[in-house]
Formats: sequence, structure tokens, C-alpha cells
Amino acid sequence: MSAPVRIGLLGCGTVGQAFVQAITEGGPTIERASGHRLEAGPILVRDPTRPRPGVDPALLTTDPEDVLADPEVGMVVELMGGVDPTSGFVRRALESGRPVVTANKQLLSREGDALLELAATAGTELRFEAAAGGAIPVIKVLRESLLAAEIDRLTGIVNGTTNFVLTRMRRAGLDYEAALALAQELGYAEADPTEDVGGADAAAKIAILSSIAFHTRVRFGDVPFEGIDGLHAEDVEIADGLGFAVKLLGVAELVDGAVSARVFPALVPHGHRLASVEGADNAVLLESPGAGEIMLVGPGAGGSETASAVLADVLSILGTQRGSFLHNALADAGRPIAPPGALRSAFYMRLSVRDRPGVLARVASALADGELSIETVLQQGQGDAARLVMILHEGREERMRAAVERISGLEDVREPPVVLHVIGNGDGR
Ligand code: NAP
Ligand code: HSE
Repeated sequence: MSAPVRIGLLGCGTVGQAFVQAITEGGPTIERASGHRLEAGPILVRDPTRPRPGVDPALLTTDPEDVLADPEVGMVVELMGGVDPTSGFVRRALESGRPVVTANKQLLSREGDALLELAATAGTELRFEAAAGGAIPVIKVLRESLLAAEIDRLTGIVNGTTNFVLTRMRRAGLDYEAALALAQELGYAEADPTEDVGGADAAAKIAILSSIAFHTRVRFGDVPFEGIDGLHAEDVEIADGLGFAVKLLGVAELVDGAVSARVFPALVPHGHRLASVEGADNAVLLESPGAGEIMLVGPGAGGSETASAVLADVLSILGTQRGSFLHNALADAGRPIAPPGALRSAFYMRLSVRDRPGVLARVASALADGELSIETVLQQGQGDAARLVMILHEGREERMRAAVERISGLEDVREPPVVLHVIGNGDGR
């Protein structure tokens, strides 16, 4: 029988409990396949009296020293989330030479470069497959299988909660609040769900994925983001009628040699591969001139789903210790970060106008000044409450912003236009 590997846990909530259950129930299989017997504990939590099915209460502690200073702990799995005090705990574990596995995109997207450097200096490893894309092995694919491929664009649905909410609103007619409450109940949402619906969770994941895809340090603050919290049900319905699904997308690409990474709700044609990704599933579409298009799809959130990626990292570390191929490589092509307005996109625009002669001409002229051209225009209603819906060909985002400002000030335009990105409409991306 092999010597046990003791895994100290920081956090034992939705993912932590599933991880403990996975190594308990899967013990014999794991040992047969990997030659290692995994044992969980000590386990840091805030409230040891909370019921945690499948977790031995004797392993719980509220003192981080019980995990960080225990000489029996051979590896640390961090599943508590957040940046503070988590960062200090992860640093301590790495400094002591112990490998760390984490699912924490908040921490990685802010301090990933420093933590990876620390791991390299201490001669140990930091792995984070579950931090982006849930159970999908996208980081492994980018760091190993596509190591030598030039990626020029990465488009992802990387937040399970928002994809679940949008799907439930469209398919089951649930309202936004009810769909979000269900996502929380199912364990998909962050402890603070505004991270999900406001786009910060997806921005953190896109920062991590684009750092790896473009070998460049992209931090959370480099990724402008919008979420679905400002989205109107009306626009989701209109988009559906026009043949589009609305998805919260992360898009990272090279623009004139610089990395442009963004998160926004976008219209995706129903026939597009990303439109069929529903519920809490995530997908990452990678485009490479050499390797072509590769799309990875799978569960993006959920306790057992995420725990499977955490366990894969643990086993991978044990399997590759000493002379591993997958090391703490730093993302260092050193490309600049593109200014946000540099992104090119097609757009959807909804305007509320008074139906008077010349309104459409004035709107079209403001768009033409920004070199933005109209693909489709649709008018609904008449009189003082007419609605104009347009799909615009691809143009520069900063020009779109300037046009929106001008249009908002036009006579007979009743309120600032609603603008959403459109992708996959046979026009550029
Ligand atoms: P969670 O259910 O809120 O669990 C957090 C755990 O950490 C709880 O056990 C909590 O203790 C403990 N904890 C938090 N702050 C602490 C502190 N200051 N001191 C001691 N213990 C503390 O979170 P989760 O959903 O499992 O997520 C964990 C991590 O995985 C996060 O980084 C999240 O972003 C990431 N992730 C989650 C999912 C998902 O689907 N849920 C998917 C991918 C990645 P108590 O239990 O006593 O409160
Ligand atoms: N709250 C996250 C989501 C969990 O919904 O995608 C997975 O990282």
C-alpha cells in the first residue's frame, strides 16, 4: 500500500465538500490509477458547527495554523475564495515548498504572476484548472496541447450562473430574480452573486485564460466588463425574434499585436456553436491560424463538477513531481494591453424615438460619421413611442460610443439607445 498524501484544505463549502467526498468515495480507484492514497484534513472553515455531509467534523478547524504549520500536510487545496486573507495563506503554503491547488479566479487574476513566481522560487507548483471553465480542462489544453499554437482569438461563455439565468429566462420563462435564486441554490453562484451577474467573475476568468493563451500577463484590471444585470428582458425577446440568443461572453484577441480582453453581453446567432451552450455549461472557442477552431464545452460550475478539476490538478501534481513537463511557466511574451475602444464588433442598437420625418436619417448620419453602417433596421410602433431596432456591421467600439453620445442628444430620440455586441453574424468574428 502506498504512503498516504495528506491534503490540507482551506475552505469546505460547495466545492470543498464535493472534493472531500470525491477523494473518500473514489479512494480505491484513485489509488489504483495513480498509486497514491489521498487523505483530507485538517480543514479550515469559519463555522465548524455547519452541517457538511461526508466530512468528518473532527478534521475541521478555525485556525489556519492547523493547516499551514502541520508537517504532515503534503499539499494544500484552497477552496475558500476571495483575495484576503486567502492570498497570505496561499503564499505561506507555497513558501513552505508545498504545492497548492486552487479554484480561486479572484486571487489568480490579481496576483497570479507573483504567486507563480513564488512557486517557482520555492521549487513547487501552483495549479488552478478549476479557476476558469469549471470542469473543462481548458488550462491544460492551452498550457500543454496548444503550447506551440498561436492563438489569435478566444471567445468564451465562462460564467455558469449567468448562462443558467439567461437559459432559464428564455426556456422556462423564469424571471431574473427567480432564475438567479435557483442558481444560488444549486451552488453555481459565488458567495457574492454580484460577481457573477455584474461580469467580474467572467472578467477574472478571461484575464487568466488570455494570460495563458497570449503568453502575456493580463490582470483583472485589464479586462473591462459588463454583466447581465443591466440587460432588459425586452432586448432578449427582440434578439430572439431576430434570430439571436443573448450570451455573456468573454472575448480576448490580438489587435495590432496588443491583447484586447473584454466581457459583455452579446447577441449570438441561433445557429452559432456558442448559442447552443445552455444552462450552467461553459464553452471556450479557441481560434488559431495553425490549429484552426477548437471548442471545449462542459460544466462550468457546481460542486462535484468543479471538484473533479481540482482532483485532476492534485493527481497531475503527484504524477509529474520532479521533472514535470507542466511547470510554473510564466506568461511572458510581454504583449501590450490594447485600449478598450480598440475592439471591433458588430452591434445591436435599440432606440426609442418619436416617429417624425428625418429621425432615421439623423440617426444614420450620426452612425455614418463614425463609419458605422446599418445591416438591418426594423421599426415597431408609431407616433411618440416608436421603436427602432438596428443591427450594425462591424466597427470600432470607440466610434460606437461616440455615435451613441451624439444619438442620445438628437431631437426626437427619447432616451439613450441600448447597445449590445453581436458576434458570429458573418461579419468579422
Ligand atoms: P463556498 O461554498 O462559499 O465555500 C467557502 C468555504 O470557505 C466555506 O467552507 C467557508 O467556511 C470557508 N471560508 C471562507 N472564508 C473563510 C475565512 N476567512 N476563514 C476560514 N474559512 C473561510 O464557496 P465555493 O462555491 O465552494 O467556492 C470556493 C472557491 O471555488 C471560490 O474561489 C470559487 O470562486 C471557486 N469556484 C466555485 C465554483 C462553484 O461552482 N461553486 C466553481 C468554480 C470555482 P464556512 O463553511 O464555515 O462558511
Ligand atoms: N460562480 C461561478 C460561475 C462558479 O457561475 O461560473 C464557477 O467558477
